[in-house]
Amino acid sequence: MMVQLQVHVRRASTKDLNRIYKIELECFGENAFTKNLLSYLLSADGTVCLVAEVDDQVVGFIMGCLEFDGEVKGHIFTLDVSEDYRRRGIASKLLGSIEKSFLDAGAGSCCLEVHVKNYAALNLYRRNGYSVEKIIRNYYGPGLDAYVMRKNLTENR
Ligand SMILES: CC(C)(COP(=O)(O)OP(=O)(O)OC[C@H]1O[C@@H](n2cnc3c(N)ncnc32)[C@H](O)[C@@H]1OP(=O)(O)O)[C@@H](O)C(=O)NCCC(=O)NCCS
Repeated sequence: MMVQLQVHVRRASTKDLNRIYKIELECFGENAFTKNLLSYLLSADGTVCLVAEVDDQVVGFIMGCLEFDGEVKGHIFTLDVSEDYRRRGIASKLLGSIEKSFLDAGAGSCCLEVHVKNYAALNLYRRNGYSVEKIIRNYYGPGLDAYVMRKNLTENR
């Protein structure tokens, strides 16, 4: 039987950078965000960066920001869970937490880009209420297409 994990989600700080970068490398290898970019996102105005902790150790994180183009929208840049902690609901919890913070800041919807063959992430997002809005060809490089997925945050409130 799988033991229920106690997962704590909190705002990330620059002190989490090394651990966050380690998880990013574990998840994306050579396609990982650079440490500089992660450092920038952790301290930039308007970004929302959350970490999930188990036994006081960061095991996952999510980063996004609020965008304003006539209406307020949330935009997720990355969501990573360390391999040993997957399929325990941690990504879903991080997703729910960032959506709440976007909603509290007045966002009506939340969007993200995902590689069209990232089936784990596609399942996760569909299961959490996201639908494919469009496809962006070559988003991640030549031949590497992305879906843009969106969720209405105000439905079923
Ligand atoms: C995608 C990722 C974030 C999922 O994290 P997670 O904590 O394992 O996700 P959850 O436990 O919340 O999963 C919720 C649901 O998503 C779906 N899902 C998650 N991982 C899946 C997988 N490997 N295969 C199929 N479905 C999957 C399932 O429906 C799952 O529910 P279930 O476990 O009850 O079947 C994780 O695999 C990861 O970090 N991958 C590498 C980085 C990445 O691709 N990030 C997304 C960038 S867009």
